[in-house]
Amino acid sequence: MGQELQKVGIIGAGAMGRGIAQVCAAAGCTVQLFDSVKETVSRALDAVRDDLAQAVTKGRISQDAAHATLARIEPVQELRQLGQCELVVEAIIEQLEPKQRLFRELEAIVSPDCILATNTSSLSVTAIAAACNVPSRVIGWHFFNPVTRMKLVEVIRAPRTTPEAVQALTALSRQTGHRAIVASDSPGFVVNHAGRAFVTEGLKLLAERAAEHRVLDAILRNCAGFRMGPFELLDLTGLDVSVPVMESIHNQYYGDDRYRPVTLARTRLLAGLLGRKSGQGFYSYEGKGAAQQPAVPDASAASATVWWSTDGPAALPESIAALLPPDKRVTQAQQADVILLAPLGADLSTTVAEQHVDASKAIAVDPVFAGPAGVTLMACPGTAAATIEAARGLFGAQAIPAFVIADSPGYVAPRVVACIVNLACEMAQQGIASPADIDVAVRLGLGYPAGPFEWGDRLGAGRVLEILQGLHVTFADPRYRPSPWLVRRARLSLPLSTPDRAD
Ligand SMILES: NC(=O)c1ccc[n+]([C@@H]2O[C@H](COP(=O)([O-])OP(=O)(O)OC[C@H]3O[C@@H](n4cnc5c(N)ncnc54)[C@H](O)[C@@H]3O)[C@@H](O)[C@H]2O)c1
Repeated sequence: MGQELQKVGIIGAGAMGRGIAQVCAAAGCTVQLFDSVKETVSRALDAVRDDLAQAVTKGRISQDAAHATLARIEPVQELRQLGQCELVVEAIIEQLEPKQRLFRELEAIVSPDCILATNTSSLSVTAIAAACNVPSRVIGWHFFNPVTRMKLVEVIRAPRTTPEAVQALTALSRQTGHRAIVASDSPGFVVNHAGRAFVTEGLKLLAERAAEHRVLDAILRNCAGFRMGPFELLDLTGLDVSVPVMESIHNQYYGDDRYRPVTLARTRLLAGLLGRKSGQGFYSYEGKGAAQQPAVPDASAASATVWWSTDGPAALPESIAALLPPDKRVTQAQQADVILLAPLGADLSTTVAEQHVDASKAIAVDPVFAGPAGVTLMACPGTAAATIEAARGLFGAQAIPAFVIADSPGYVAPRVVACIVNLACEMAQQGIASPADIDVAVRLGLGYPAGPFEWGDRLGAGRVLEILQGLHVTFADPRYRPSPWLVRRARLSLPLSTPDRAD
């Protein structure tokens, strides 16, 4: 092991197997492709041929390179033909027993130092390895769909996997043009683990009725820069896929509250509101003009006066004051139509009680994720409807969409981002992967605008901690307990990516 891998066998010629075959062949390996259903291999070769032809048309590769890549993939009819392979990758059905059986069969066919890799996305690599005589050669090589375009791969190290196998697969990943991140075997690996907070916290906000799904999506897109909101994402994936994954990760972490889904997700699954595939999810996909209706509020004229404080925990940052019409500010809270507060950790109800201001005129604005693309306004149960309209008008007059939510410590975007950062800190704390690799995995694998450690450092560890502590106090829910990795770096004012020891 540790050698350059030249001869690769791939078992399972479905969506993933054929993609892995293509990238390995393009990297110069000779590839043998096997599937228990014979026709699948010829369909896979057709798909590879089409994809390569498209790449030639777009000028990404030469005709010669396309021919050479295709010529390096040999369809095989029998498993025993894989005897000369230095690496065999399985991309068969996602069930433990068939994968274990396949690896046991392979052990009788391949040489003792052939690496056996699994592309499983949710099963334990350790459990697959445990069925083998030589578990040290078993490793996870987790690609993303479509393999040719998603340039990230997770190299999963089970407790007995040799460093040589890790090195050999990392090197081959580089050859295929993929960024490999090395992670220890744990539920969800890195990408599917780090991606938990976005959807589960979105669902938690919906279950609390902080806002409608379309408002939550719009805030996360407009204010935080996500490509799509959690409900657009759930509709795309389908609740039939997402709910079992959420439940499985929660179970695999022995019911850790950080991963706890909300019941409305399963209720909607039972009701068949799966998403795009069933025509109705959080959004409707039936009929003309269906699908995404943007939740941008109408602009209304600013006629109200506004007061804000410039010091204390609910002071308005200058960056937000700059978004307001300059002539509407008054110097006395009692004279104002709108009292604009900007707490971060506490909710508005707590802030109003502490500041002794008129609840009916009080409204909060998210001080972190705000800009010309949108601001989040947060009302408390005492806020008058007229105050909400007046506050929207103040931003609307400057053509800034103002999304209105009910009281929620950490609003929407800071709350979701703080949960993402906290989960990533916990992953670093447990040594699942390095902060740098977690950041890469999240940007490439999930397409978030920033990695969690980058984001946490931009916000500041202290502010992330303040949001989580506010959530923890308000809900008395262990879901929001801050990771010690975060707490220690916040206390020491260190960047979140600082390792445990400076060695
Ligand atoms: N599709 C994805 O987005 C994705 C992403 C990452 C990882 N994965 C994982 O990759 C693996 C394959 O997924 P897929 O989406 O390509 O599935 P798929 O259904 O498209 O392909 C699986 C192929 O394996 C073949 N097969 C099943 N049992 C076999 C056996 N015992 N021996 C030989 N061939 C067998 C099937 O005939 C089929 O062609 C799964 O473990 C899955 O979890 C999938």
